[in-house]
Amino acid sequence: MIKTDLIFPRGFCFGVERALKLLDEALTKSEPVYVLHEIVHNTVLVNGYREKGVLFVENLDEVPDGALLVFSAHGVSKEIKIRALQKKCRCIDTTCPFVTRIHQWVTRLEKEGCPIVLIGKKAHAETVGTLGQLEHPDKAFVVEDETQVDTLPPADKIGLAVQTTFNADKAKAIQEKLAQKYKTVLFQKGICVATEERQNAVKEACKTHSTILVVGDWKSSNARRLVEVAKEAGREAFLIETTADLKGLNLVEPVGLTSASSASEDMVTAVFRQLTE
Ligand code: F3S
Repeated sequence: MIKTDLIFPRGFCFGVERALKLLDEALTKSEPVYVLHEIVHNTVLVNGYREKGVLFVENLDEVPDGALLVFSAHGVSKEIKIRALQKKCRCIDTTCPFVTRIHQWVTRLEKEGCPIVLIGKKAHAETVGTLGQLEHPDKAFVVEDETQVDTLPPADKIGLAVQTTFNADKAKAIQEKLAQKYKTVLFQKGICVATEERQNAVKEACKTHSTILVVGDWKSSNARRLVEVAKEAGREAFLIETTADLKGLNLVEPVGLTSASSASEDMVTAVFRQLTE
């Protein structure tokens, strides 16, 4: 038995709950439901939906004309939406409103002719979707760490956007470096409240716990950020997808247990039981 405390808040955020509710509603219609990309980054959940008949695709070409099509919570590019309409798909957009706010922000910056810097993971679906709002995505700069700020071209003014699930402390450090380099940095808050609350809760737990376990999927950006935050606080931290991942871990007590915004509480309960029984 390992002394384990549950960290709060954790688990499903508002955006994930909203996306799943919209998908559940789509499933009540008696016709095939296509989802472009995983609805949220949670393999167990996605497989559960597959069993219910949901068809997850990575490419719009795989979706028949006129089909019922769901866009994931991470958001999609303008081009995808236009192509889906051309295919006469009936679209259900589960993009999280916090992501939509960033889409609107970068669109406004581009209209005003302001060079855009986006703090985010380049390959993440949200970053791809955000850049996809722009007429000239190739002109925007994506940065993941402070050192990349040195490589950015000079300008009087830049507009800054941040991926919703980015590491809040890292984003702050990059923002400070940008403020030293550019006279004016136009900024709108990007990291969402759910991400911030979960990262702060982990930091707090690190004061009293030796190990932090994060239940979440390897594909989940916010799950990996929680592990990163705990490690930055000097704690051992592990990402746990299923209870099988506990095998062989040498856990130093007390353990703090949390979960990503896309991780279900069922898995947290299963991990908690295995640790404490
Ligand atoms: Fe939305 Fe933040 Fe969740 S952007 S999907 S509320 S992690």
